[in-house]
Amino acid sequence: MRTAAIVPAAGQGQRLGPGVPKALRLLGGAPLLVHAVRALVQSRLVDLVVVAAPPGDVSTVRGLLDDHDLPKDVVVVAGGETRQASVRLALVSLPEDVDVVLVHDAARPLVPPELVDAVAHAVRAGAQAVVPTLPLADTVKQVDERGDVLATLDRASLRAVQTPQGFRRSALERSHVAADGADASDDAGLAERAGIVVTTIRGSAEALKVTHPIDLVLAEAILSRRRGDRAR
Ligand code: CTP
Ligand code: MG
Repeated sequence: MRTAAIVPAAGQGQRLGPGVPKALRLLGGAPLLVHAVRALVQSRLVDLVVVAAPPGDVSTVRGLLDDHDLPKDVVVVAGGETRQASVRLALVSLPEDVDVVLVHDAARPLVPPELVDAVAHAVRAGAQAVVPTLPLADTVKQVDERGDVLATLDRASLRAVQTPQGFRRSALERSHVAADGADASDDAGLAERAGIVVTTIRGSAEALKVTHPIDLVLAEAILSRRRGDRAR
């Protein structure tokens, strides 16, 4: 089986504040995107990576990835207006012989390669769609448009969802076609709507998404702990 990883990296990172697109922001001296791609290529099960870059930065991204000497095929395509459009543009560029697809946010630079392996393995073992999840630490309430509480949700049955999300290629393609323009914040959301069973595996706190400035503080701390561990 041939496995490709798609990396949506075309977002601006508005919640992170002004600056270059989020995938190009630095963490421990390297762009978030480079960390994410490195984690993916470290997985033995990933054969090829396709990055959906900000449309105005395709050649910058190409140059950055070349500078970092990655051991596998890394293709760069122009991303789209939404995350979903970026994934679709990468998906249509995949070679025909790819039959397993992982989708991993550039904004999750520190995903452990073991998690990448686990997701790829679950699809190779027969799952149509698989997502890494974690239990929630906070209580979650549903509110109305004024912010008044309507209900407290049952936390035991809720999960926070991460990437990489893994799919049989045919299932992911079917999900994107069935979406027909409707938007979902992740690919598994499209698969659910298309009637595909989505299974879960345990995620990792280190696969956190860099969304707000405080997330970079935590990511820097995780990275320097890893580097310290390696130096010892
Ligand atoms: N993404 C993308 N194409 C877009 C929008 C987002 O490829 N048009 C990617 C981002 O680059 C990121 C992932 O989707 O790796 C998750 O999106 P998010 O964390 O929301 O990133 P941004 O959209 O860049 O951030 P913000 O919403 O704060 O602007
Ligand atoms: Mg966004």
